[in-house]
Amino acid sequence: MSGHGTPIPMSSHKCGPLKGEAHVPGDKSISHRSLIFGAMAVGETVITGLLEGEDVLDTAKAMQAFGAEVIRDEDGTWHVHGVGVGGFAEPDNVIDCGNSGTGVRLIMGAMASSNITATFTGDASLNSRPMARVTDPIAHFGATSVGRSGGRLPMTIVGAADPVPVRYTTPMPSAQVKSAVLLAGLNAPGETVVIEKEATRDHTERMLTGFGAEITSVDTEEGRVITLKGRPELKPQTIVVPRDPSSAAFPVCAALIVEGSDVLVPNIGLNPTRAGLFETLRDMGADLTYENLREEGGEPVADLRAKFSPNLKGIEVPPARAASMIDEYPVLSVVASFAEGDTVMRGVKELRVKESDRIEAMASGLRLNGVEVEDGDDWWIVKGRGHGNVPGGATCVSHLDHRIAMSFMVMGMATEAPVSVDDGSPIATSFPIFEGLMGGLGADLRRD
Ligand code: S3P
Repeated sequence: MSGHGTPIPMSSHKCGPLKGEAHVPGDKSISHRSLIFGAMAVGETVITGLLEGEDVLDTAKAMQAFGAEVIRDEDGTWHVHGVGVGGFAEPDNVIDCGNSGTGVRLIMGAMASSNITATFTGDASLNSRPMARVTDPIAHFGATSVGRSGGRLPMTIVGAADPVPVRYTTPMPSAQVKSAVLLAGLNAPGETVVIEKEATRDHTERMLTGFGAEITSVDTEEGRVITLKGRPELKPQTIVVPRDPSSAAFPVCAALIVEGSDVLVPNIGLNPTRAGLFETLRDMGADLTYENLREEGGEPVADLRAKFSPNLKGIEVPPARAASMIDEYPVLSVVASFAEGDTVMRGVKELRVKESDRIEAMASGLRLNGVEVEDGDDWWIVKGRGHGNVPGGATCVSHLDHRIAMSFMVMGMATEAPVSVDDGSPIATSFPIFEGLMGGLGADLRRD
């Protein structure tokens, strides 16, 4: 759980060159899925490299509440003894998913086709986020739900006693919604089909295939059509969680804007559904290279080398790339502040319903720190000031959003005056070693 504790005010001060290697933690999306899919397999799944952030730990507790055994060895290896598809027990108590939209939405889907009832809650951020995007499709399987106004948590889901398979087109680009439907489809007879107009991160499809499910993905004129055969017996897996490209974004972007920097971020997955930020930065003229490009577990992986880039140029980010970098717009807007010219970001409405309204949170903080921003419902434009010309000096509100807090900490590394956030505690949801790691590279982060 996050956001229930004492706020941690933090500030970031202009620093010397960032140098060294940044070993970022495991991928958050893959960590949640490893625990949930492991809990739905028959037998023991072994996971190394799991992200031990608050979001993922909440998912581990939730899987225990649904009857799986989840054990952590002292060396950080995790063991999940699954109960099989359709084997979830009814939890004794309310499931608290803390700050995690991925956790709650995937788990709601996973339990929706079992004859059990569960109640979900979260922190103030999660309890303000829309859940109809999951309760609508799971109703087609036969699940019912009741929550607060606007389809918000706390919410109770009564799983379908006799689920039927579903064919569903996602109304917004969302890997969480796609995954919730596929997980519900696991315990329905026959074929469940999800159609997405724009391809979103495909970890669920790749990992379920690894667990032995029959799942196909075809790109058609309608979009990507994903078909899952229901009621498989999922086979336990040995999973090595790759490092998180969304966490890598922070040291990479920091190195680009801090004079004299040269940072290596090893072993980052470059799955095309996740790597949009790095392409965008290169389009802006960033000195960002992929070293030792290789394939691991069927996915492209590289060591990223980011060097100070004094001549960054604002660009129009291709809207078609949005899904592949959706979590990276906050930190991109920081880099854009140090570029020459406008960075235009369109087709990004989903940013308004993340852990915070990320357009609003970043736009107001950037403005306070002397950067002009224009914004509308599904677009925003950051008016770059060029290197050495960004004032800083203000305190920003993090709105219980880890990526907002980390983005402003990156900003302060290169502004004239320090940048502060009212609360850095949410950073622990996804990147618990952020302060130490950035400090090790040379950043000057302080708890105020
Ligand atoms: C995630 C999907 C994205 C992303 C989130 C993780 C996932 O959310 O923002 O951080 O693991 O499936 P949406 O599905 O809402 O786009």
